[in-house]
Amino acid sequence: MNTAILELREKLDAALAAAQSVAELDGLKVEYLGKKGSVTALLKNMGKLSDEEKKSFGREVNELKDYAAEKIAEKAAALAAAELARELDAVETFDISLPPVLDRGSFHPVTLVQRRCEAVFRSMGFQVEDYSEIVTDYECFESLNIPPFHPARDMQDTYYLDNGQLLKTQTSAAQNAIYKKYKDALINEGKPIKAVFPGRCFRNEATDACHENTFFQMEGVMVGKDISIANLIYSMKTMLSEVFENYGLKVRLRPGFFPFVEPGFELDISCQICGGEGCPSCKHSGWLELCPCGMIHPNVLREGGIDPDVYTGFAFGLGLTRLAMMKYGVKDIRDLNSGSLVAMSQFTEDK
Ligand code: DAH
Repeated sequence: MNTAILELREKLDAALAAAQSVAELDGLKVEYLGKKGSVTALLKNMGKLSDEEKKSFGREVNELKDYAAEKIAEKAAALAAAELARELDAVETFDISLPPVLDRGSFHPVTLVQRRCEAVFRSMGFQVEDYSEIVTDYECFESLNIPPFHPARDMQDTYYLDNGQLLKTQTSAAQNAIYKKYKDALINEGKPIKAVFPGRCFRNEATDACHENTFFQMEGVMVGKDISIANLIYSMKTMLSEVFENYGLKVRLRPGFFPFVEPGFELDISCQICGGEGCPSCKHSGWLELCPCGMIHPNVLREGGIDPDVYTGFAFGLGLTRLAMMKYGVKDIRDLNSGSLVAMSQFTEDK
């Protein structure tokens, strides 16, 4: 073999052995095989050779070209494989035959309380209904004996859409639809209407430890023949005792005004946070306003297609958010909307 070719080949071998990266190899490719590379440069000496020598020299140069290309590619593949092996070593290994660790998250305290209430009401024969969050003025106010310009609207300012619909301020907004849905079964088959409908409500409220602009209620109605305040008190007491698992729970009724009931009441329970001593959560009264309620106003029944001379009923609007605070000892309502997974996950027993 021509000495110049042999020297170049040895130089290449040494450079390849020393190369550590694909970038270096790219450099070698240019250095040896590029247009101005050392292999091409060998051809410049061809002129001095005889025809016979030119042939064998040309062949050897071509062989060196092939050799260089092959060795550079080989080394590139080896470097890439070593790189992959290094990356794989760095990956945390895991055993796919081990049982999975599933962090499933948890139910929000309001959801827990809502489900508990639903279960209790179901056991008392109530239907659980769902209802939309965006409603009409008729559903939220007019059908509930709150005509336009009624002062009761002032307490329930909310978010209005351009088309006149609004984010519901109270779950009572579903009452009219519920009456219309079940009135035929009531009138024709004598089946009393018994339904609860939980939902999210929105009000333009100044926020403090016990008020939020977004909160949950659970509305309930019972309509039939001879439904009285006694039925109302019994249902409320039974439900609250079950929810708090406290059968000595104290409740009190005070008169309250709501345009859609007559008479109307405020049902309070003894504060479960301070035990009735007085604390910020109960505004230092020892009592917590939990469940306004009353006998459904004749106008409201009539608007739902039910004759108030034949049927009577009660309605209530349970504050689910407030109930969750009481049950789980959450002192500030804002914590419930905080999005803190650590705080909100501690009440779920079975994740
Ligand atoms: N909807 C009322 C509110 O959010 C609460 C309420 C009061 C509901 C009396 C009722 C009721 O069903 O009878 O302020």
